[in-house]
Amino acid sequence: MIWRGVLHEYRAYLPFADNVQIVTLNEGNTPLIAAPRLAQALAPGAGMKLYLKYEGLNPTGSFKDRGMTAAITQAVHEGARAVICASTGNTAASAAAYAARASLRCLVLVPEGKIALGKLAACLAYGAEVISIAGSFDDGLAMVREIVQRQPIALVNSINPWRLEGQKTGAFEICDQLGGRAPDWHCLPVGNAGNITAYWMGYKQYNRGLPRLLGGQAAGAAPIVYGRVIEQPETIATAIRIGNPARWQQALDALDESDGQITAVSDADILAAWRQLAHLEGVFVEPASAAGVAALRQQIAAAQLDPQDKTIVCVLTGHGLKDPDAAIAQAAPPHLLPAQTAALEAYLLRK
Ligand code: F0G
Repeated sequence: MIWRGVLHEYRAYLPFADNVQIVTLNEGNTPLIAAPRLAQALAPGAGMKLYLKYEGLNPTGSFKDRGMTAAITQAVHEGARAVICASTGNTAASAAAYAARASLRCLVLVPEGKIALGKLAACLAYGAEVISIAGSFDDGLAMVREIVQRQPIALVNSINPWRLEGQKTGAFEICDQLGGRAPDWHCLPVGNAGNITAYWMGYKQYNRGLPRLLGGQAAGAAPIVYGRVIEQPETIATAIRIGNPARWQQALDALDESDGQITAVSDADILAAWRQLAHLEGVFVEPASAAGVAALRQQIAAAQLDPQDKTIVCVLTGHGLKDPDAAIAQAAPPHLLPAQTAALEAYLLRK
């Protein structure tokens, strides 16, 4: 069967009208990659079956495309001519792409200087109107929530319930890829908390068993962990630089119902996990995407999570090319050599 995107694939589980015209880029169907070397590094000898759900392979390079196909499809169905969102970058790029495909005007609000290069480039390339605000994601979200009360423009942040409807298909896919059952643990980064809310909806609806949820928030932007709004969130993982998540309560409910955990991970721990993903498994992600792995690492090390013979899925939310600056800042610069084989040979044989 040819893959035509998550709405076609899981139509029976989604509450769309029969006559809806689906706007899709054939998103979804991302690989669930076995990660035996990372598993061995995190929990030597524990027989942990670790899998990476590589959402960076979606059409715009992040998991947001699952929810955006649904939000834009419904917006068009309801007659919208324009859409708007606040974003740390990935939602904006996804909205811009699907809006282009549906001939909608698209406005995206991003925090000035805090959006990774690949995301900004994509928004501009897709022809979105990029509005850079001297404030945080949370400020931007407050602005767009207000403007949609006054103006005929559809909000496509994950406050929009259709975003969650599309996003929950990630849980269906994981169950399908594991041969018809949910993992024991499901680990993921948490920012605005749409994704954790949607995954939990998906697992409950699909009825293939329920995982325990493990969320990772960046320590400088961990409102759910600390139980208070963070006025000035800060982290290298700019995607999850959020101090007042819109789906805060739903995230708490999901954690509670799943007997899950949410934990703060330092930027250093995020980068350590990020490096392990690339070095041990050949999987390059943006820093925020490693927060779920960092949380898993931390919880195993602290004996808060028993990995023995468990099936564990970490969702890797965005591609590494989203944030080339972060990657380059973490590495030594390339080796400079003259364009001569002798120089190459000397380099190769250096002690
Ligand atoms: N990982 C990446 C790469 C993200 O871009 C985001 C959120 C998250 C994780 C967290 O997901 O918000 O559902 O808890 N990015 C949003 C954006 C906020 O605007 O692109 P969440």
